[in-house]
Amino acid sequence: MATAAARTTSASQSPVHVPVLVTIITTMLLCSSIVGAAKGNEPEPEPTPTPWPEQFHSILMMNFSGELELIDLWYDWTNGRNFNIIQHQLGNILYDLEWNNGTSFFYTLDSDRQCSSSQLEVGILRPNWLDGATYLGQRQVDGFLCYVWEKADFITYYEDVESRRPVHWVFYTGREAHVMTYEVGAALEDAKWQVPWYCFEETTPVAAMEDVNGGTITQRGLVDFAARGIANM
Ligand SMILES: *[C@@H]1O[C@H](CO)[C@@H](O)[C@H](O)[C@H]1NC(C)=O
Ligand SMILES: *[C@@H]1O[C@H](CO)[C@@H](O)[C@H](O)[C@H]1NC(C)=O
Repeated sequence: MATAAARTTSASQSPVHVPVLVTIITTMLLCSSIVGAAKGNEPEPEPTPTPWPEQFHSILMMNFSGELELIDLWYDWTNGRNFNIIQHQLGNILYDLEWNNGTSFFYTLDSDRQCSSSQLEVGILRPNWLDGATYLGQRQVDGFLCYVWEKADFITYYEDVESRRPVHWVFYTGREAHVMTYEVGAALEDAKWQVPWYCFEETTPVAAMEDVNGGTITQRGLVDFAARGIANM
């Protein structure tokens, strides 16, 4: 563009060059309109899911066939851990702590002193765990216009078109998460990741959960597997 402007200036000073200049400009216009037309015909590239930040905190409203839970999700890839603090409606709080080495603990901190653990082949979800998901198009959900993807028949994931934040996901089981808050970079203090002493007394591992997914997913499935752990407690 700077070159074109420079030419215009010199051309106005020497009229001899005017026809040449007109040709150049015409050619430029023609080229740019061809490029423009070509661009218009290109199919829009499919959007891809935004990778998760290495650390974030979310409050999730969960609905499983009308059974409601509020979950504090602390995703902490930096430290190789993931925490779901699950408040059952007018019920107890269940702590589901997952380490990247495959160990999970499910426990309560009330007088029940329940704890169970499991050992999986896989670690926590990676920030790019949605890579390779199938794009399904745009849909309106929870009042947000979202891009929608499906990952391996296991989860349908909705991301706000405008802010690119997650809004909603639905597991193949029908369990739904509504993302109420999304604080990128928020991390839970180390002391809160302490597992209570009774987890080390006589822990009965819950059923091996790697068979649950039939080998299609090589990572743990957020809070849905937690629910399976609870069911087996
Ligand atoms: C929860 O899901 C059920 C359908 O499974 C629906 O009827 C109900 O309205 C939902 N509740 C809330 C609070 O979203
Ligand atoms: C995984 O890491 C946690 C936290 O450091 C630890 O309590 C647990 O024993 C480890 N599991 C294995 C199998 O090493």
